[in-house]
Amino acid sequence: MRFAEPYKIKMVEPIRLIPRAEREARIREAGYNVFGLRSRDVFVDLLTDSGTGAMSEEQWAGLMRGDEAYAGSDSFYRLKETVESITGYSWVIPTHQGRGAEQCIMPQIVTRPGMYVLGNMHFDTTRAHIQLAGGRPVDLVIAEASDTETYHPFKGNIDLQRLRAFIVEHGPENIGAIIMTVTCNSAGGQPVSMANIRAASAIAREFGITFLFDTARYAENCYFIRQREAGYENAEPIAIAREMFSYGDGLMMSAKKDALVNIGGLLAFKHEELYRAAAGLVVPFEGFLTYGGLAGRDVEAMAVGLLEALEVDYLAARIGQVAYLGEQLHEAGIPIQLPVGGHAVFVDAAKFLPQIPADQFPGHALAVELYIEGGVRGVEVGSLMMGRDPETGLQLPSEFEFLRLAVPRRTYTNNHMDVVVDALKAVWERRHAVRGIRFVQEPKVLRHFTARFDWADVPAVR
Ligand SMILES: Cc1ncc(COP(=O)(O)O)c(C=O)c1O
Repeated sequence: MRFAEPYKIKMVEPIRLIPRAEREARIREAGYNVFGLRSRDVFVDLLTDSGTGAMSEEQWAGLMRGDEAYAGSDSFYRLKETVESITGYSWVIPTHQGRGAEQCIMPQIVTRPGMYVLGNMHFDTTRAHIQLAGGRPVDLVIAEASDTETYHPFKGNIDLQRLRAFIVEHGPENIGAIIMTVTCNSAGGQPVSMANIRAASAIAREFGITFLFDTARYAENCYFIRQREAGYENAEPIAIAREMFSYGDGLMMSAKKDALVNIGGLLAFKHEELYRAAAGLVVPFEGFLTYGGLAGRDVEAMAVGLLEALEVDYLAARIGQVAYLGEQLHEAGIPIQLPVGGHAVFVDAAKFLPQIPADQFPGHALAVELYIEGGVRGVEVGSLMMGRDPETGLQLPSEFEFLRLAVPRRTYTNNHMDVVVDALKAVWERRHAVRGIRFVQEPKVLRHFTARFDWADVPAVR
């Protein structure tokens, strides 16, 4: 029997494919920046999987149950019990989103300026909060992660030899923490194996270093372990999660992904000491410890979503849909990061558009063309996002030039994925004629969000 999603649709949100001439006008008005588009002008929106998923009827019912007490809300206690049941960590604090959790924990880890925070590959906001706290982020992901064509089941793994060598060279007293990001977003939503987590945790323990998880996509990581790691074939995802978290001292989380909510975040710790330290910043920055910047109803929905995300049928549909998109693109000869990650397909724009140099942003040019072709919104992850060296002003080199197609959870059907495939195939057919992009306005900080562009071969008006 063929496979189908383990849910049916109760409420729908209309979307519309506006005519091509209008799409051309809208993206021109947006300064050829997909972040400048209004969502009503987008047909299939694959800009991000963060906060864009559909909640279940149980989560919507949870919104009504939400206890809005300032302190000691029942919703908080439901969240705490849920987190404990999944992670074994009993010191739990909600936050308004992932970066809220990061800003409260990082100064407790980076206790002296210049300390290193090691990881497989830190997410942008994690990296920014390490730096804001005076620390130095270091990525130690395995080399296979940067080779899009080589199959490796766990491209998010940390390089254990480099991890040990770094600690020995710089001294454990200069390492604030090791953070495992599961799945590894910046490496293409690639999973980390249990064996790698266990071994990295043993190294942390050997040197007395705090070991944390960045768990935005923890359930997807557990599913990949079940699919790809010997010994876990029949394990329930929640049992895999419990083992995984047993190797750490705590976690920070953007709940906008695998807690299946539109807003929310989380801190949770095994020991009281880290909890107390983080709590000192949660109150001034986020809010009281039992609501952390969220309404009680959002806390309630998060408690429900954390468990729903661990259901095998849901995970099979979720990971299966992203794989379905990736497989069709691969079969069409379109270069993508292989194997396909958990939340997104990463199209290798450097190979798709070899005529466009890195400083004319092939991933971004592809994003603009895909919108014009099919009203589909993806986003560049490459030189444009990487930005300039703040000291020299020179463009930083990027290892990848990707167009990321991130799939929201429980939101689109496979027909939508087919539309994306058809649109990208149409751009593939005319790829030799696709032009590069140049800046018209370049902001100094996080330029990709608000920059304005034009085609590189259209001369600037003087
Ligand atoms: C791995 C990872 N960590 C942290 C964050 C930051 O979370 P938020 O956007 O909720 O602040 C994200 C967001 O995409 C992420 O993917």
